[in-house]
Amino acid sequence: MRQPLIAGNWKMNKTVAEGEALARAIQEGLQTQMVEVVLCPPFIAIPAVHAVIQGSSIRLGAQNLHWEDAGAFTGEISPVMLKEWCQYVIIGHSERRQHFHEDDEMVRRKVAAALRHGLTPILCVGETLAQREAGETGAVVATQTRRALEGLSPEQAARLVIAYEPVWAIGTGRAATGEDAEEVIRRWIRGTLEAIFGVEVAQRVRVLYGGSVTPENIAEFVCRPTIDGALVGGASLKAESFLGIIHETARVKA
Ligand code: PGA
Repeated sequence: MRQPLIAGNWKMNKTVAEGEALARAIQEGLQTQMVEVVLCPPFIAIPAVHAVIQGSSIRLGAQNLHWEDAGAFTGEISPVMLKEWCQYVIIGHSERRQHFHEDDEMVRRKVAAALRHGLTPILCVGETLAQREAGETGAVVATQTRRALEGLSPEQAARLVIAYEPVWAIGTGRAATGEDAEEVIRRWIRGTLEAIFGVEVAQRVRVLYGGSVTPENIAEFVCRPTIDGALVGGASLKAESFLGIIHETARVKA
């Protein structure tokens, strides 16, 4: 039985004070223990948000990390620094792949580094609009998944969270259909996991949908048994909409 998970990716939004206020409002409004809730603030707000949610069931995640433990990497944050505060880390988000030229090899190193330090990667995979229109969705998603997980043991792979995020659906207000997301996740994410690690791992990994998720459309995704929750961008920046997504997930999965 996989616990449903709703993660909020704040991206480059919220000052420390705004982040504290948002985390407090989410904590105060949370009415379920059934859904695991993860907040992913900017690095600088992580300690402050940690203080706010301490003692609650809410978990913390980072939005990125470097694969080395320490060293001459100006501007980077290592897993050793994060593990004091966070349980999760988003890896390979399409914005990092697109704007910061992260490739599959960097994503692979980051996944391995996170697992080495006990952080759970939220690995993001997904096709661009051009790739979708060229009929390459399955190949792109399967390849990104396979390359990110190269060298992992089945035990390590089973701890992962994977987010299927079609790039054309992120921040556009144009979500995938539930049917489409379900098909990609079943065939190309769980299918790839099964081919590499076996059926047990493929069934244990939690897989999320991401891309223009709202309180109004979340049910469309989480009503499908293969989809365990969502990675939420825009709608995670307001307590009301983020809580709406969490509570709707709890209702549908109950
Ligand atoms: P969005 O972002 O919900 O604003 O589309 C999703 C994401 O980038 O994880």
